[in-house]
Amino acid sequence: MARRKIVAGNWKMNMTPSQAVKLVEELKPLVVSEDVDVVYCVPAIDIVPVVEAVKGTNVQVGAENMYFEEKGADTGEISAEMLVDAGVKYVVIGHSERRDYFKEDDVLLNKKVKKAIEAGLTPILCCGETLEQREMGVTLDWIRLQIKSDLAGVAASDVANLVIAYEPIWAIGTGKTATSDQAQEVCGAIRDCIREMYDDATAESIRIQYGGSVNAGNAAELFAKVDIDGGLVGGASLKADFGKIVNYK
Ligand code: PGA
Repeated sequence: MARRKIVAGNWKMNMTPSQAVKLVEELKPLVVSEDVDVVYCVPAIDIVPVVEAVKGTNVQVGAENMYFEEKGADTGEISAEMLVDAGVKYVVIGHSERRDYFKEDDVLLNKKVKKAIEAGLTPILCCGETLEQREMGVTLDWIRLQIKSDLAGVAASDVANLVIAYEPIWAIGTGKTATSDQAQEVCGAIRDCIREMYDDATAESIRIQYGGSVNAGNAAELFAKVDIDGGLVGGASLKADFGKIVNYK
């Protein structure tokens, strides 16, 4: 069975709550799609108004981060349970900005993935190499290490429903998109890694996105690749172009 495409916006640290509601209204007629799952991953403070604003549409809401503890003395953090109660369905875990600026490592990310799944959220687990790693020829080794560490101890039935986003760090926010062949090579290797760790059915069911300077002009070519099941979109998710990415065909 063909995998359903999933196009998610990663708003990052953009949009105040009132701007967020305006953007949702502006995008409403543009992101209608019968065959693509559409997700807005928004800053924590925008979650409640955005969940309200997308009611009755085909859009689901995601968070950009969460903590793995259930509750307690973790000042400033947000739990999976809080997200679920607010109507969130997806959560971005391990974005390169969190790994880099906030020093999130794979041991922590593994805990977050497990907690998200336990709470009923779908993780959008991010992985990706730096330009130096690509030039050293270690991209696939690096990505496999990230996937294996972040999914350690996660059951096949849970992995089947997961989303993985391959985001080469050198392509994020730089306007430098990976070529569709480069993106396919890594997304294919991620699927092979899942096949090795689990089985064929899990590998064929998991959805793998490409992210990194996805725009209205390159989405169709990227999403046509056999192992690319959609995109995680930063900059272009904040404008009308996002509708063209969702309706890339
Ligand atoms: P970009 O960001 O589309 O602006 O490159 C992608 C991401 O970081 O998820």
